Amino acid sequence: MVYFNLDHAKSFVDQSKLAESRKLAEQSFKDVQNKTGKGPEWLGWRDILKDPNDALLADIDRLAGEIRSKADVFVVCGIGGSYLGARAVQEALGTFFPSSGPEIIFAGHHMSGRYLKELIAYLDQPKADGEKKSVYVNVISKSGTTIEPALSFRFLRDWVHANFEDAQKRIICTTSESGGALNKLIETNKYKKFVLPDDIGGRFSVLSAVGLLPIAAAGIDIRSLFYGAVDAYQNYEKDPSELLDYVALRHALYESGMAMDMIASFEPELGAVGGWMQQLFGESEGKNGKGLFPVLLGYSTDLHSVGQMVQQGQRNMLETFLVIDKAPASLSVSANEENTDGLNYLDGKSFHEINSKAFEGTREAHVEGGVPVISIHFPRLNAHSLGQFIYLCELAIAVYVYNLGENPFDQPGVEDYKKAMFRLLGKP
Ligand code: PA5
Repeated sequence: MVYFNLDHAKSFVDQSKLAESRKLAEQSFKDVQNKTGKGPEWLGWRDILKDPNDALLADIDRLAGEIRSKADVFVVCGIGGSYLGARAVQEALGTFFPSSGPEIIFAGHHMSGRYLKELIAYLDQPKADGEKKSVYVNVISKSGTTIEPALSFRFLRDWVHANFEDAQKRIICTTSESGGALNKLIETNKYKKFVLPDDIGGRFSVLSAVGLLPIAAAGIDIRSLFYGAVDAYQNYEKDPSELLDYVALRHALYESGMAMDMIASFEPELGAVGGWMQQLFGESEGKNGKGLFPVLLGYSTDLHSVGQMVQQGQRNMLETFLVIDKAPASLSVSANEENTDGLNYLDGKSFHEINSKAFEGTREAHVEGGVPVISIHFPRLNAHSLGQFIYLCELAIAVYVYNLGENPFDQPGVEDYKKAMFRLLGKP
């Protein structure tokens, strides 16, 4: 089971305040369980785990199998919670340099015309054997009206229709049961549709069709992922103490004046997982002047960019490490005769051992420098443990935001940029 290490952060908080936060967390967890907190109509991400829909998993797997056998490129068009989870799981469990299966390309997560133009030019380019690329598109938008994916989808849709007679089969839409422009397009064109239930918000949707179709299309075992989350759900329903200790500590640290939570990892495959967590936490807790700003750091890289700031800058940050305890076999160092580079002292050590010492050393230095460090550990990184981690994060942030007295499931502030942008664009 994915687990926490809180030992390097506890001493930074007043123990009586920690006990208060812990008591509050117990009540907050009950509010999640009993649907008595704010936004009770958004707790469907728990219900799908309580009562797994195996038929839906099988349907997604079947379509993903078809896509994997027929597509050279699979374009995933969505923004925020509609794509970050899929990207996170793919990057964590896929290979760094994939050589088989369809190439997965994300679109609709910004409005760069240059990107879209180059993407379409890339889709137009024939394969090495001169054949046309076979392309499938999955557009994902709960509201069906978000401008970034909607605009990209307009171009991608036109391109697919102009290039394939069976275009209608190559476009798969994931959206709400009803409403939104996407549902109108689905009706008119008879595209295949997956529904994101109304009671699951975008950033809590990775274990619905929103995340599962692109994840399965990348060749990842979605049953293991999903049932890893079910496992965590059942585990925390029985005994939430470890999770509540984490929430209480994070809350007590926030109450003691911390302003930032730096999500860091020494494992590059966890970079996008940190990005998913950053959005889940940030959009859930940043309300009414409250919340820890989630900052994403990739180590060792960022030790050489903002490491100085972490070590000696303002003391208003805590650090959350994502750690893989046992890595799959990788490279090991062996001594060479010249030892010109002076690295023979690493003789016999694997990169994982070296990286683990880098983590321990960094933790030691940061704690000494006044940064509380929490870590979340994957005993091994696989679909099952990643599923556990996903639910752990979803539950932890829901309980934590209840501790703050806020609604974890809405994002009213995101509307403000949209209003200003639409006014400037002259939207009727
Ligand atoms: O978590 C959320 O609800 C948001 O990040 C949404 O996922 C994001 O704004 C995209 O919205 P939609 O899926 O409606 O296009």
